[in-house]
Amino acid sequence: MSAHWPVELTEGEVGLRPIRARDQATWREINQRNRTWLRPWESTIPPTPPGHFPPRRPTFRQMVRHLRSEAHAGRMLPFVVTYQGRMAGQLTVAGITWGSMCSAHIGYWVDSAVAGRGVMPTAVALATDHCFLTLGLHRLEICVRPENAPSRRVAEKLGYREEGVRPRFLHIDGDWRDHMVYTLTSEEAPDGVLRRWREQRAGESTGAPSLRAPGRDDPWAPPTPGNKTDIR
Ligand SMILES: CC(C)(COP(=O)(O)OP(=O)(O)OC[C@H]1O[C@@H](n2cnc3c(N)ncnc32)[C@H](O)[C@@H]1OP(=O)(O)O)[C@@H](O)C(=O)NCCC(=O)NCCS
Repeated sequence: MSAHWPVELTEGEVGLRPIRARDQATWREINQRNRTWLRPWESTIPPTPPGHFPPRRPTFRQMVRHLRSEAHAGRMLPFVVTYQGRMAGQLTVAGITWGSMCSAHIGYWVDSAVAGRGVMPTAVALATDHCFLTLGLHRLEICVRPENAPSRRVAEKLGYREEGVRPRFLHIDGDWRDHMVYTLTSEEAPDGVLRRWREQRAGESTGAPSLRAPGRDDPWAPPTPGNKTDIR
């Protein structure tokens, strides 16, 4: 059992909490609605060598069981991202390695309905500070396909440093894809990144509004007579 799991982290309307079996219906609904949005960035299973059976995609419950056991072993932090109290995506700190390395990597996605509101940078800032200031990790990595401009912006806005390209690094959307590596070490953020991110956003909010306001058909818009959507 890990002393550092389960954990919940919050900043304003954005939260990180452990993924759980009862998230299944919401997770399915969000993933189905966002199929086109997520597909270009989603991991896929590489071709199986002749004579081997291809591994089966786990069910949601199997996935949660695996993630929880990895979390309790101290190798992973499998979070659900919440926005205004509802599930809005996933953030996973994976590959936690101690010894002389003390590093991990972060992966994430959000519902397209909340994209552009700074939800993921806030979630990554929360996770980064937790990893550096609470767990004592030294190095975090975010690997992004060069074509994924929004995800590169998440890393850049939080001060993650572009380190280079790993050719054909991960099997994504049906093929081996190059990835850019963004890195941050604890020395580069001695007070964490959340404070820096807060200050950055406070500066932005005094200028032109950079956060997308909820639209008419937005599942996150406050309920009105014409909008009663609730995906909870
Ligand atoms: C990458 C991702 C997590 C960013 O999350 P987010 O909460 O929208 O992050 P931000 O609000 O900071 O927006 C990041 C960038 O997205 C773009 N963006 C802004 N509004 C947007 C909108 N309505 N729709 C799509 N992208 C938008 C902008 O380029 C923005 O950068 P900017 O702030 O410099 O203008 C999200 O786009 C996503 O889940 N994409 C699909 C899955 C994915 O790419 N996962 C990461 C794999 S490495």
